[in-house]
Amino acid sequence: MCGSEGPRRGWGRCAPSPMLLLSLLASAAPLGLLGEETRQVSLEVIPPGLDAPQNLLHIRAVGTNSTLHYVWSSVGPPAVLLVATDTPHSTLSVNWSLLLSPEPDGGLVVLPKDSIQFSSALVFTRLFEFDGANTSEGAKPPGEPYPPYSLAKFSWNNITDSLEPATLSATFRGRPTDDPTGAFANGSLAFRVQAFSGSGRPDQPPRLLHSADTCQLEVALVGASPRGNRSLFGLEVATLGQGPDCPLMQEQHSIDDEYAPAVFQVNQLLWGSLPSGFVQWRPVAFSQRQRGRESALPCQASPLHPSLAYLPQSPIVRAFFESHNNFCAFNLTFGASTGPGYWDAHYLSWSTLLGVGTPPLDTLSPLVLGIMAVALGAPGLMLLAGGVFLLLGHRQCSEYQRIN
Ligand SMILES: *[C@@H]1O[C@H](CO)[C@@H](O)[C@H](O)[C@H]1NC(C)=O
Ligand SMILES: *[C@@H]1O[C@H](CO)[C@@H](O)[C@H](O)[C@H]1NC(C)=O
Ligand SMILES: *[C@@H]1O[C@H](CO)[C@@H](O)[C@H](O)[C@H]1NC(C)=O
Ligand SMILES: *[C@@H]1O[C@H](CO)[C@@H](O)[C@H](O)[C@H]1NC(C)=O
Ligand SMILES: *[C@@H]1O[C@H](CO)[C@@H](O)[C@H](O)[C@H]1NC(C)=O
Ligand SMILES: *[C@@H]1O[C@H](CO)[C@@H](O)[C@H](O)[C@H]1NC(C)=O
Ligand SMILES: *[C@@H]1O[C@H](CO)[C@@H](O)[C@H](O)[C@H]1NC(C)=O
Repeated sequence: MCGSEGPRRGWGRCAPSPMLLLSLLASAAPLGLLGEETRQVSLEVIPPGLDAPQNLLHIRAVGTNSTLHYVWSSVGPPAVLLVATDTPHSTLSVNWSLLLSPEPDGGLVVLPKDSIQFSSALVFTRLFEFDGANTSEGAKPPGEPYPPYSLAKFSWNNITDSLEPATLSATFRGRPTDDPTGAFANGSLAFRVQAFSGSGRPDQPPRLLHSADTCQLEVALVGASPRGNRSLFGLEVATLGQGPDCPLMQEQHSIDDEYAPAVFQVNQLLWGSLPSGFVQWRPVAFSQRQRGRESALPCQASPLHPSLAYLPQSPIVRAFFESHNNFCAFNLTFGASTGPGYWDAHYLSWSTLLGVGTPPLDTLSPLVLGIMAVALGAPGLMLLAGGVFLLLGHRQCSEYQRIN
């Protein structure tokens, strides 16, 4: 073999691989993920034991000294609980009859309680649709809202049928229970969740860097009929504050867009001073399954506000946090009235990471490091890289020739 294992395909077979440059530069670049621990991840669907079509997915990620529990559910609006404990032996216990009762407090617990280091939740409450066509005529972007879809009033697939143990993923796919206009006759809103046993980066943009301490959520609206020719969509997300304040919303800038074309920013929601829990995403969504620069839409996040009473209750959040109720909420809106949009292919997808600890940090990519090395004219470095490359490259190429 004489190929390069670098993240860019199509490099010349015998050209210096960007990975080679990276390894040479590694001591100079702060690599956030060196020495990252791995986790034993299991996905378990917890059956209701009653005749209720209810989904509860428990993702348990066990490390040497800790366990992360992600509990995803479509009981009520789609929601996830994130619970981190400092023991590899903590367990989740669910009392379904309590959970589905009007007073679900205590229906869902992680034991032993004193092992819990961090816990919070995200609840996806509403899907918004806006008429993006009129924004140029004075209306404020994203445009006039159509009546929102309440995600608490969706019905969801049986999560068991969508489990993919090989990729540690599962998909909640739902449509409005009551759909008088048939907008979702051929469409659905899907929440694909995926856990990871180690660090890495998916093949598809936005290629968020993940670790064993994170879980990825991909939200996709597919095939639903929009109510306008230029509909923009939005998603309302509620979360729990730690103490009296809302979590912190942060924007981080980066000069590197190799993994998410033309996106130089990472948005983060942090629940407390590090390390606590975080949500992290690139402010980009995609309007085609084929994700790239041509199908990239901007994704705007509104500031986080203490939420008002209208938010639908999530039974699992109530069950776990009991009377805790300082919810905060924000809106994500996808796309602009110009450029690509949902109207192109009736497709919209957005990805985010949820986890504990320090959020994964993109260091400069091998490509950018290579360019910098050239631009800064680090001749010694290049010489060294060239020398090592000649050694490796020559050996690899001769093997390649021998095979033929
Ligand atoms: C979901 O599917 C599994 C297996 O296909 C089945 O055992 C289970 O009863 C189903 N759950 C519901 C709520 O229908
Ligand atoms: C795990 O526990 C061991 C023994 O108590 C300790 O040496 C190690 O530093 C801990 N590792 C982490 C990641 O906390
Ligand atoms: C579940 O909760 C109900 C109501 O509090 C209680 O009566 C029942 O014993 C609990 N079930 C289990 C298995 O703990
Ligand atoms: C868009 O603007 C036009 C002209 O201002 C108006 O007639 C029309 O009702 C608007 N459409 C919507 C959906 O508000
Ligand atoms: C759903 O798909 C069917 C078959 O492709 C088509 O005939 C129908 O018009 C579609 N309905 C909507 C609401 O798009
Ligand atoms: C959508 O576009 C079609 C054709 O361009 C037009 O006839 C129709 O009135 C438009 N609908 C809306 C809601 O603007
Ligand atoms: C999200 O946007 C909708 C529609 O503009 C608005 O009604 C709602 O209050 C917003 N929610 C938050 C949390 O800002």
